[in-house]
Amino acid sequence: RKSFVVALDGPAASGKGTLGRLIADHYGFAYLDTGSLYRGVARRLLDAGADPGDEAAAARAAKEFSLDQIDGRDIRTREVGAAASKVAAMPSVRAALLDFQRRFAANPPGGARGAVLDGRDIGTVVCPEADVKFFVVASPEVRARRRWLELRAARPSLTEREVFEDLAERDARDAARADAPMTRAEDAELLDTTHLTIEAAFAAARRVIDGVF
Ligand code: C5P
Repeated sequence: RKSFVVALDGPAASGKGTLGRLIADHYGFAYLDTGSLYRGVARRLLDAGADPGDEAAAARAAKEFSLDQIDGRDIRTREVGAAASKVAAMPSVRAALLDFQRRFAANPPGGARGAVLDGRDIGTVVCPEADVKFFVVASPEVRARRRWLELRAARPSLTEREVFEDLAERDARDAARADAPMTRAEDAELLDTTHLTIEAAFAAARRVIDGVF
């Protein structure tokens, strides 16, 4: 039977990750945070002392990338997020990571009946035939606050303003790049989580999925 695919795209800290995990748990689907692939490539370059702007080095890291490389690695930092969005603008890096994502969607690990992928280009490029697509958004202020609350335990000196600026820079780069820019697929449901609790956003997503699955 064909795998049921849920695509979740949208800007940083819009709630895609939390929603993606809840959806995957609820329906027994496999979950892939595709941002972790770009973060993994960025982490490798930073660890090797390479410049994240070096496309040849980034493409090599992307070709050699596997998920177990990021097991237990800290990929959630500001530096890694910024470098991830730089390598993500490189067509050779995106091409190297495409197959893995498509195989995950078509053939979810563990024999799951479906897969949830979250990222920026899932509904437009990676899985244009996804069964359900969401474009998850929230106001920049709310997103900055959510991300700041997550990051500040590890870095108490970090300000909400800095997080706001990081996200704005990353979103602008992700939306403006020529290859697979972050954009809402025509057939994606817009889900604005600005004023929604996680439970309410999850309930809204379930209503859409239950109408199709
Ligand atoms: O989702 P997350 O914020 O972890 O992603 C980190 C970066 O990876 C994003 O800013 C974006 O540049 C890139 N990305 C992408 N395409 C995806 C997922 C992430 O370009 N499908």
